[in-house]
Amino acid sequence: MPMIRETIVTTLNTEGKVHIAPLGLIAKEEGWILAPFKPSTTLDNLRATPFAVVNFTDDVLIFAGCLTGNRDWPTRPASRVLGAILDGALAHAELKVDHMEEDEQRPRFHCQIVFEASHTPFKGFNRAQAAVIEAAILASRLHMLPREKIERELGWKPQESFETGIRKTVQWYLDNQTWLRNVQSGAYREWVARNYEKRE
Ligand SMILES: Cc1cc2nc3c(=O)[nH]c(=O)nc-3n(C[C@H](O)[C@H](O)[C@H](O)COP(=O)(O)O)c2cc1C
Repeated sequence: MPMIRETIVTTLNTEGKVHIAPLGLIAKEEGWILAPFKPSTTLDNLRATPFAVVNFTDDVLIFAGCLTGNRDWPTRPASRVLGAILDGALAHAELKVDHMEEDEQRPRFHCQIVFEASHTPFKGFNRAQAAVIEAAILASRLHMLPREKIERELGWKPQESFETGIRKTVQWYLDNQTWLRNVQSGAYREWVARNYEKRE
């Protein structure tokens, strides 16, 4: 089993726009393999601009943020390749794609290390940080799990779909006009005042 390092990888599209994504880096002899799933922006970018910057960071907010839509982390230009270094990186490596192995699900980009630098000492993870990384990995793969497997393991599934549920809800309101009129008129406030606020 090769060693996989959980990192933040930055790539560029053809217009030079930086894309930030958590990615597991697979160790291979002198270099690294990047294996982005299809479809992904990282995959498109690596095909278009065959460079990447691997950022080693203990800031787990970046891992969780990228998966919840916050990818706005400050960067600066890389020194030897077309790419961007994450400002908070403890260390980074600048990679050049050497060759690509096509795959139906997950092409593999074999990369050479062009440049490496350390910026700040790594002080170690605490358990909460490790848990965030693990949860982020699972969350990023949820959409890949077969629906039947999730339903089987959860042991339940909703009895209504959105369509049947909304139809029944609207029908309930139509069948309960008196209740609806009392809510709309604010009459329930008097009931609450009579029974709770003014009660001794
Ligand atoms: C720690 C960690 C490691 C990940 N490793 C990979 C990976 O090796 N390949 C991949 O495609 N996605 C990986 N993911 C999920 C990607 O970050 C996520 O799917 C991302 O959005 C990639 O798609 P994008 O390039 O379109 O942003 C990982 C997520 C986390 C949190």
